[in-house]
Amino acid sequence: FAHGKGPRPLEGRTIIVTSGPTREPIDPVRYISNASSGRQGTAIAEALASHGAIVKFVTGPAEFAKPRGCEIFPVETAVEMEGAVIAALPADAAIFTAAVADWRIAAPSDAKLKKDVSGTAPELDFVANPDILATVSHLPAGERPALVIGFAAETGNLETHARNKLARKGCDWLLANDVSPGSGVFGGPDTRILFLDGTATDDWGPQSKTAVAEKLADRIAKHFAAGS
Ligand code: CTP
Ligand code: CA
Repeated sequence: FAHGKGPRPLEGRTIIVTSGPTREPIDPVRYISNASSGRQGTAIAEALASHGAIVKFVTGPAEFAKPRGCEIFPVETAVEMEGAVIAALPADAAIFTAAVADWRIAAPSDAKLKKDVSGTAPELDFVANPDILATVSHLPAGERPALVIGFAAETGNLETHARNKLARKGCDWLLANDVSPGSGVFGGPDTRILFLDGTATDDWGPQSKTAVAEKLADRIAKHFAAGS
């Protein structure tokens, strides 16, 4: 339904959504990143806002980064994204759709790296980035949002990877999709979600990312309405 019209079952709920890629600098002009479009995160943020939620949208530099009706917090690196998420707490729910870079350059150069005339390539040292979803999932009760939801993009055995990831991250729900070559999920309008909670696995079937967003927003509204 349209913004501001229809039932607003998430009125008064604050929900954090992370979205897009992160961008990890090598030097002032170069970085490592990934091809996340921000399409799914933006669709979810807009669906939640249209259900009446106060949405805090923490986004890396993405093609889709301006959901209507949301407060937008632009960031670049994973470390900045973690800081923005922590600063946005407390929240009733947090949804992690961002494709966070798993590593960053240990010591980005303040000066632009120059090409070595002998043709020697630079060696880059990496360090692990903070796992924002795991950090928020493991916050003490009272600080932790009541509902923490992760995403997973996998190749290979989707359900096995997803079930392991749900346990490892400590989140309540996990939405997994298959990003094998040819799936078209990365950047495209459509996806196929396998939904996991602590007990069950549910195949939502092929559908648009907008439809997934509506379905997830409805499910969150039902969860809160049930008194959790
Ligand atoms: N995530 C996060 N912070 C990170 C890495 C991931 O918040 N540093 C979140 C993502 O937004 C997503 C979930 O964790 O909701 C799963 O991300 P994914 O990259 O699939 O998980 P990883 O634990 O990094 O495992 P791998 O990349 O090895 O599959
Ligand atoms: Ca990862």
